[in-house]
Amino acid sequence: MKNTVSTLLKQKEAGDKITMLTAYDYTTAKIMDECGVNSILIGDSLGMVMLGYENTLPVTMEDMIHHTSAVARGAQNAFIVADMPFMSYQASVEQAVINAGRLVKEGGANAVKLEGGAEVCEQIRAIVNASIPVVAHLGLTPQSVNVFGGFKVQGKSLDKAKKLVDDALKIQEAGSCAVVLEGIPAKLAEIITKKLYIPTIGIGAGNGCDGQVLVYQDALGMTTGHTAKFVKKFAEVGELMRKGISDYISETKAGTFPAQEHTYSIDETVINEIMGEENQS
Ligand code: KIV
Repeated sequence: MKNTVSTLLKQKEAGDKITMLTAYDYTTAKIMDECGVNSILIGDSLGMVMLGYENTLPVTMEDMIHHTSAVARGAQNAFIVADMPFMSYQASVEQAVINAGRLVKEGGANAVKLEGGAEVCEQIRAIVNASIPVVAHLGLTPQSVNVFGGFKVQGKSLDKAKKLVDDALKIQEAGSCAVVLEGIPAKLAEIITKKLYIPTIGIGAGNGCDGQVLVYQDALGMTTGHTAKFVKKFAEVGELMRKGISDYISETKAGTFPAQEHTYSIDETVINEIMGEENQS
């Protein structure tokens, strides 16, 4: 069954947790879809985990469309959400609508996600008016890394917590169909979740949210170096890949790969003919 804005809303009402994972390519999206994940996010985190940038700021509309269309071809049932990259919606409402439209038309997204609260409500309203569902994103919004001075937990002081609650109500009023809450205290996320009728999807926001999202390379143990406190490794895919690649290298060098079963045969008479022709020339 295709997951939609209304099925996600029904999940919130029924207390059925929403599952979302990031994906950036056809093969991964297909596996996730077959496993029954409710939603796939083509996050601008692709700048870091797929393209090797230090943060998400360099990601372009072209990058997002390229990866979104690959995911959309792989996933039949998941609700496809594409991130609007840095500076694709901040400068003007008109640009926001045009770029959201491209992610749907050229990328095949079912919805777009953008970061911010009160300051992006005009954009949210205009995009929703163009019949494009919008997922909002509050808290540790990575596109504001330079304002935050790093990837730091948000909403800990009274005024910051109040602003987050207020922003959540405003983005809901503007027409968002869901909101990602990233890097905020669990109790604050729980309060916001109870105040909203739209689903909250948490990442580093505790288990009181209506759903969870993780970057799939983190969740499957493919990233190295520092990992955030909220990340759980559900598998050691990185280790499996390392073993597979090392085995490939040693077997190829030893000449044990390819073996007979990986090899195509040919009728001996053809070979004899060719050898005969070669001997004559
Ligand atoms: O870009 C991304 O992957 C995200 C998630 C971390 C929510 O925005």
